[in-house]
Formats: sequence, structure tokens, C-alpha cells
Amino acid sequence: MDIEKIIKNAVLLQEAYPMEENLCRIKLDANENPYPLPPGLKRIISERLEAVSLNRYPAPGSPGLKADFARYYGVDEDTILIGNGSDELIHILLTAVNASTSGSVMFPTPTFAMYRIIALNTGHDIIEVPLNDRLGLDIDEMLGVISDKKPTLIFLSYPNNPTGKCFNRDDIEKILEASSGLVVLDEAYFNFSGKTFLRDLDRWDNLVILRTLSKVGLAALRLGILIGHPSLVHHLNKVRLPYNVNIFSQVIGSLFVEHSEKFLDLTDRIISDRKWLFDELMAIAGIIPYPSDANFVLFSCLMEKDDVYAQLVDRGVLVKSFTSPDILKSCMRVTVGTEDENREFIETLKVVMHGE
Ligand SMILES: Cc1ncc(COP(=O)(O)O)c(C=O)c1O
Repeated sequence: MDIEKIIKNAVLLQEAYPMEENLCRIKLDANENPYPLPPGLKRIISERLEAVSLNRYPAPGSPGLKADFARYYGVDEDTILIGNGSDELIHILLTAVNASTSGSVMFPTPTFAMYRIIALNTGHDIIEVPLNDRLGLDIDEMLGVISDKKPTLIFLSYPNNPTGKCFNRDDIEKILEASSGLVVLDEAYFNFSGKTFLRDLDRWDNLVILRTLSKVGLAALRLGILIGHPSLVHHLNKVRLPYNVNIFSQVIGSLFVEHSEKFLDLTDRIISDRKWLFDELMAIAGIIPYPSDANFVLFSCLMEKDDVYAQLVDRGVLVKSFTSPDILKSCMRVTVGTEDENREFIETLKVVMHGE
């Protein structure tokens, strides 16, 4: 067998997504929520899971959870699709839409890596438009691409991972107006930004919103929510695998809706700790943090970055380092952890940078 003749060229040309295998004491690399389940919920979860029939397939399309999220977001059920994480929803979108050789999928860079990876794996040509030097959208360039190439799908991470800020709302409205394709606003970090296009779904039928439970303390469940026009959701449902969301996630997802205020209490704490982290980073000579609307802070490092990263790891602190040659070249990203984790990260960084 000549495996290279069998596998798609776009797949051959890629590396597997780099997953950090370092087992550091302090894990601040993946934008997870650092807190365990709110008190009392573990017992309720155990009780609910005891009632589950493991010999049966889970309900296809997660109807109970869909109804819960429709209520929670104040939208109709036929506008919702539940996925095995928003990664799966991105995959479903990219599987359903037309691919064209002139560039069917556009997104700014740097941004969330899965847009590029899944687009290539599903046979799309991609158009990457670098952010401007203020880390905002290059709106003229993007409008030019929309007019010339008519992308079928545009991804905007709002706030943008890994740069941290929400893009300018007027720019996004211009993109929504100009595009005849779908514009996906990925609001994975909504709970830390408070900014959303959810109330604008009636204004644009090409607007699609993604949310996830991964950043509010339930990353292990793999639950993502897509909200869009019913005609789009109708077709996406044909691409969705029948039993894409397992029964545990369906049951615990409903519990999130019931007890959301307990989960969201913790996000206020993360927002205030983000400010503390930013101010502390700002005070370290040779470190420049970027303002953030999310649960992480991007910072550039004026010393040899790979060396600083390796020394942090040696001391048990894991952050995300980037290998791309763009504006991320000198950057690392730290997730807001618990108060103790944040303090230890800052102390360790000071020692690594200046031996203090
Ligand atoms: C912008 C963005 N979208 C989506 C995701 C993935 O979400 P999920 O865990 O629901 O697949 C991430 C994860 O870091 C992200 O940063």
C-alpha cells in the first residue's frame, strides 16, 4: 500500500495538532476554567446519572438539551444545533458548505487553529487575512476578499483567541452586510466579554453564533451550541452524526442550564483575576501583555522566548507558546487560573526573567 496515494494532499501536508503532554503542576495553557464543580452539584449529577439507561443509544439530536438551551438563550428550538464541543460544530459547518477552488473559507490570523485545520481537512481553500498592527480586523482587505472571492464561510472568534480582544462591532456589521456566505461569530469566551451578536440574529440570516460550555467549567463534557437560521440548522442536521452527544453530556448539560448562576459566579472572579494578572505582567520589565476580553492574557516576551518557556516548564508552570512566524513569534498565552496559580506563575516568571 502506498499510503501517500490514499491520503488527501491537504492532510499529508499537515502536522497533527500539537497537544502539550507536559504534566506540569500548574496548567495554564488551554483556556480551561480552573475551578471544580460548584458545591452540591456532584451529588445531584450522581443521582441523575443513576437513572440513565446505558444499554440504549442517547436521544439523537439531544432534544431535551436543545429545549433547555432554547429557553436559556431566548431563541426558538429550530435555531439550535448541539455538538460534541464547538469543534464538532465547526466540522459540521465545513462539511455542509460548498468548497470552491478560489478560496471558500476566510478568517483573520492569528486566530483559533481549528478553523484552518478543519477547513483544510474538509477540502476547502482558505484565505487568511492578517490582523492589523492593533490586532484588529483589516476590514478593507476582508471586504475586498468578500467582493472578489465570495467566501462561503467566514470565521470570527469574538473575542479572538489568542489575541484576547473582541473585534470592532462596526467592522463585523460591515462583513455581515457584505457577505453572501455564512459569518460565524464564535463566542466561546462570551462569559468573560459580555459582548454578543445573539440579539442580532433577526437582522442577518447569514449570522451564525457558536457557544461552548468548555470555558465555564465543563470542558470534559464536550458540549457546543450553534444558533443560526432555521433553514441552515435544518441542513446541518443532515450532516450531524445521529448520536453525536453522549448521554452523560446531555444530562449534565441540562443541569448546567438549571444551575447556571452557580457556574457563572466563578466567571466574575476570573474577570477580576484577569485584571490582576494583566497588571502584574505589565510591571515585569521585558514583558508586554495585551488587553483581554477572555479568560487568558497574551503577552510578548522581549527575552529569548523559547528559553523562558522551557524554564517555566522546568519549574512546573505550563503556558501556551506559539511557533508561528507572525505577530505571535515572541508571544505566550497564559490562562487565568486560581488566585494561587496566578501568583505562582507571576513569581516564577519574575525569577526566570530577572532572577528575583
Ligand atoms: C475560539 C474558540 N472556539 C472554540 C473552541 C473549542 O471549544 P470546544 O471545547 O467547545 O470544542 C475554543 C477552545 O479553546 C476556542 O478558543
